[in-house]
Amino acid sequence: MKKVLITGSSSGIGRATAELFLKNDIPVVGVARQHEKFSHKSELYMPITADLSKIERLPQLSNEILKNHPDIDIFVSNAGYGDFQPIENFSTKQIQNFLNVNLISHITLCRFMVSHMKYKKNGTIFIIGSESSLSGGKKGTLYSAAKFGLRGFCQALRDEVATSGIRVCLLNPGFVRTPFFESLNFEPKETENNAIEPEDIAKIIHDLLHTRIGTNIDEVNLSPTTKSLNFKPVKKDN
Ligand SMILES: NC(=O)c1ccc[n+]([C@@H]2O[C@H](COP(=O)([O-])OP(=O)(O)OC[C@H]3O[C@@H](n4cnc5c(N)ncnc54)[C@H](OP(=O)(O)O)[C@@H]3O)[C@@H](O)[C@H]2O)c1
Repeated sequence: MKKVLITGSSSGIGRATAELFLKNDIPVVGVARQHEKFSHKSELYMPITADLSKIERLPQLSNEILKNHPDIDIFVSNAGYGDFQPIENFSTKQIQNFLNVNLISHITLCRFMVSHMKYKKNGTIFIIGSESSLSGGKKGTLYSAAKFGLRGFCQALRDEVATSGIRVCLLNPGFVRTPFFESLNFEPKETENNAIEPEDIAKIIHDLLHTRIGTNIDEVNLSPTTKSLNFKPVKKDN
């Protein structure tokens, strides 16, 4: 393990994953819009500010990252947000923005990481899906469209790059206790059984990296043991 690229490193799952890599002295390149949310003092943490909804800028962003960090051998494709509403509530602009961040940015960044990892004949890609990658739920049309899309992308990509020394793994968590819920009108209830902790996901990523190189863990599905929700006013917009 030389260096990891994490999108959405400023918060939640991405942040917990960055912290675990840093604790193990593995350098992290972290992409997000608001790095002030996570000010890690380690010189091993290299924040890059970018808005992943701006798809047209991603080729240049990817090329710059790989030029400055040619030793990246792990990619955690994680950034995303939730928006759960009846489909007719979304404008076409909201639909486009949602799919740009939650689906197309993942595919586009993977496209550049794959070229790089093929050249290096080595690499591991983790994509953060969701339980919504596996079944569509209430008000989850857009979220499931993106997450099902990621699952199909992952399955095909895994097959495509298998002989190039690249492993591809999809993680499908249920509720994880993160700021993800700040822009939503629900959240998992406080008791510990109702949500996965972001550190649990970080640990799984870390453990998977230590499996024998010839073994690919294709997908990991994980859920909190119970699923009780609180309904609440919305605090912020994405
Ligand atoms: N929490 C859950 O229950 C849960 C369950 C299953 C799957 N997931 C998935 O886990 C991933 C991470 O979510 P989380 O729970 O850790 O939420 P979070 O705490 O809100 O973190 C989301 C991260 O994505 C980044 N991000 C969002 N929009 C972005 C944009 N336009 N450009 C660049 N970065 C952007 C945010 O950074 P900035 O705001 O600084 O840009 C932040 O670092 C998402 O893909 C989500 O769908 C979450």
